[in-house]
Amino acid sequence: MKAVGKALCAAGIVAGLLAFLWKDTFDPESLSGARVLLTGASAGIGEQMAYHYASFGAEIVLTARREAVLQRVMKKCLELGAKKVFYIAADMSSSSEPEKVVHFAVQKLGGLDFLVLNHIGMTPFQMWDGDVEHTRWLMQVNFFSYVALATAALPTLEENQGSLIVVSSLTGKIPTPFTTSYSATKFALDGFFGSLRHELAMQKKNIFITLCILGLIDTEVALEKTRGKVYLTAAPAAEAALAIIRGGATRVHEAFYPWWLQYMCRFRDWFPSHRDRVLQSYYNYSSP
Ligand SMILES: NC(=O)c1ccc[n+]([C@@H]2O[C@H](COP(=O)([O-])OP(=O)(O)OC[C@H]3O[C@@H](n4cnc5c(N)ncnc54)[C@H](OP(=O)(O)O)[C@@H]3O)[C@@H](O)[C@H]2O)c1
Repeated sequence: MKAVGKALCAAGIVAGLLAFLWKDTFDPESLSGARVLLTGASAGIGEQMAYHYASFGAEIVLTARREAVLQRVMKKCLELGAKKVFYIAADMSSSSEPEKVVHFAVQKLGGLDFLVLNHIGMTPFQMWDGDVEHTRWLMQVNFFSYVALATAALPTLEENQGSLIVVSSLTGKIPTPFTTSYSATKFALDGFFGSLRHELAMQKKNIFITLCILGLIDTEVALEKTRGKVYLTAAPAAEAALAIIRGGATRVHEAFYPWWLQYMCRFRDWFPSHRDRVLQSYYNYSSP
């Protein structure tokens, strides 16, 4: 009887601990009136993030290249309850655009609480073909423009104790086939923003950085590219978008979606000799 009591007591403590650790601290109300600059907002996960922020009552500046599509997203955001929405068309392969976009957003919203870096340049899902010029271009779109946008936004984020949300990928933690240049840009984000996080803390600057690590998501482009090459079920873009927003709002260092990716990353570190075997089970190694 005593043993049963002890076991029940231990189970209670473990359950209490788990409930405490997994407590959901996300309060959508905290985003009402939040001023958000969102990149890659015309399609995919960025478009879904725009709709979530809108329904939470945020004030949003949307950016991507296609003006007509941004107009459509802006209209829907207003219908969903966004307090204010503006858009600015910009191509992040141009080094002068990031600063322009941040200035536009600060001028329209009077400051920023969140900078969400999400856009990516188009890149083939294929074996390395030696195109160094494409890698250089992709670095500009997926990495250097993130650095430039963040740099231009740091003063307003500091003033408002705001957050930088950087959207990355599993391929920014674990190299995978067919993603040489893309993976390099995502690893670069981890290094740059991880180091910046330390420096902000050293300078006692109250700016938070959340890196979001996503698995395969069911956006049009991702599904089209990976068909027949990857054996993974793609997770819904709307849920991925909410996970990113939640991670940023609750100020976690790293947000993983789907949740089990964090264990995949840790498993890889703990069992290095098994890591490639696990990865290979998700890819078609017979016909590249
Ligand atoms: N989908 C996935 O399976 C997956 C997995 C892991 C991580 N992620 C990450 O999630 C984020 C969003 O991915 P997604 O799948 O939603 O991408 P997506 O559907 O391809 O959308 C990309 C967005 O970036 C914009 N964009 C493209 N080129 C641009 C440029 N040169 N300048 C400015 N904007 C540009 C696009 O709009 P315009 O064409 O109008 O410019 C669009 O709004 C990315 O950071 C990606 O790495 C996605």
